[in-house]
Amino acid sequence: MLVLVGLVLCLSPADALTAFPPKFQVGKLNGDIVVKCNTSEQQVTWTQNGEPEPMAELIAEGQTLTILGLDLPATGNYSCWAGTVLLDTTYVVVSSARKEGMNVSCQAESYRGSFHCSWTCPHSTVFRARLTRSDGSLGEWVPAASHRGQFSASFTDPSFCPFAEELRPLQLQLEGLSTTSYLNVSIHFFVRDIVRPNPPQELTVQRRGEQLHLAWAPPASWPLPKSYFALLYRLQYELLNGTQVDKYVEGAEETRLQERVRRVRISCQDPYANPAWSPWSVWQDVDAAQQHRLRAR
Ligand SMILES: *[C@@H]1O[C@H](CO)[C@@H](O)[C@H](O)[C@H]1NC(C)=O
Ligand SMILES: *[C@@H]1O[C@H](CO)[C@@H](O)[C@H](O)[C@H]1NC(C)=O
Ligand SMILES: *[C@@H]1O[C@H](CO)[C@@H](O)[C@H](O)[C@H]1NC(C)=O
Ligand SMILES: *[C@@H]1O[C@H](CO)[C@@H](O)[C@H](O)[C@H]1NC(C)=O
Ligand SMILES: *[C@@H]1O[C@H](CO)[C@@H](O)[C@H](O)[C@H]1NC(C)=O
Repeated sequence: MLVLVGLVLCLSPADALTAFPPKFQVGKLNGDIVVKCNTSEQQVTWTQNGEPEPMAELIAEGQTLTILGLDLPATGNYSCWAGTVLLDTTYVVVSSARKEGMNVSCQAESYRGSFHCSWTCPHSTVFRARLTRSDGSLGEWVPAASHRGQFSASFTDPSFCPFAEELRPLQLQLEGLSTTSYLNVSIHFFVRDIVRPNPPQELTVQRRGEQLHLAWAPPASWPLPKSYFALLYRLQYELLNGTQVDKYVEGAEETRLQERVRRVRISCQDPYANPAWSPWSVWQDVDAAQQHRLRAR
């Protein structure tokens, strides 16, 4: 019987959740739960997942429906009706303890209070998330995008101040729903711990006599002033024999190389906070850069 129900749920696309239902109620497994029909009608009839004969033990009384001993077959879409007129709908699920393996990871490009989180969860089909901002106020629910069990969402904290030291962590609350269960997870973090800059931009290479002169700019998303939001740069260049060499530069956006170099790329890091390096810029081919410069003249 349970297997049959599972099959029916999987085969019927009407039962698959594609968005967070406007109204849902979470009950304990084997507990009772009372669903209320929001209507002025005195007498209503109920359906579960469109069926007039629900897979549950029920007591219907006026506008309320009591589900006794909530189990998985008893979960789903409870709708109340006056004849053929739909009055109200409540999604009923059980609370789930399966929070392991969600692996939430968040990243910010800079100290502007915007960041992006992603996580995995094979047990839930829709997620939404809400931020408690640095000033303690509660943000709006943000629906998560999903792709093959991988969820992601972007957040902005308008009260975030890039110049102040973060005293309290941000709190992110995640809610997941499947057709049968509900999941609730909270995580805390400081923006300074999740910053990963974008790659530096506009890397240029010029030959000046025997030397190569390299210049670049900080990532466009990195906040100013430079004196306050410093960056440590890491140049990587490849010699003609294929050997790769790293050079670190702090407090400047140019440097010179003595060696004969085939190509060069650059990344950056906030030297005072989190150790995450930006992704690399694309390799800049030194000869191609020279030719490009000649053609441009
Ligand atoms: C629940 O069922 C009602 C009536 O069939 C339908 O209008 C509504 O879209 C369903 N809600 C969900 C979240 O499936
Ligand atoms: C009940 O329905 C009224 C009218 O549609 C709506 O304004 C109200 O918010 C609803 N209440 C609940 C608890 O859903
Ligand atoms: C969690 O995510 C990180 C980064 O996306 C990945 O490196 C790690 O292997 C993941 N861990 C698990 C248990 O999935
Ligand atoms: C989800 O978790 C938050 C914070 O831990 C809690 O306040 C809230 O009541 C929980 N929601 C449900 C439906 O259990
Ligand atoms: C490549 O050249 C550099 C400098 O000319 C030298 O130090 C290095 O050992 C060479 N590497 C190989 C693999 O030949």
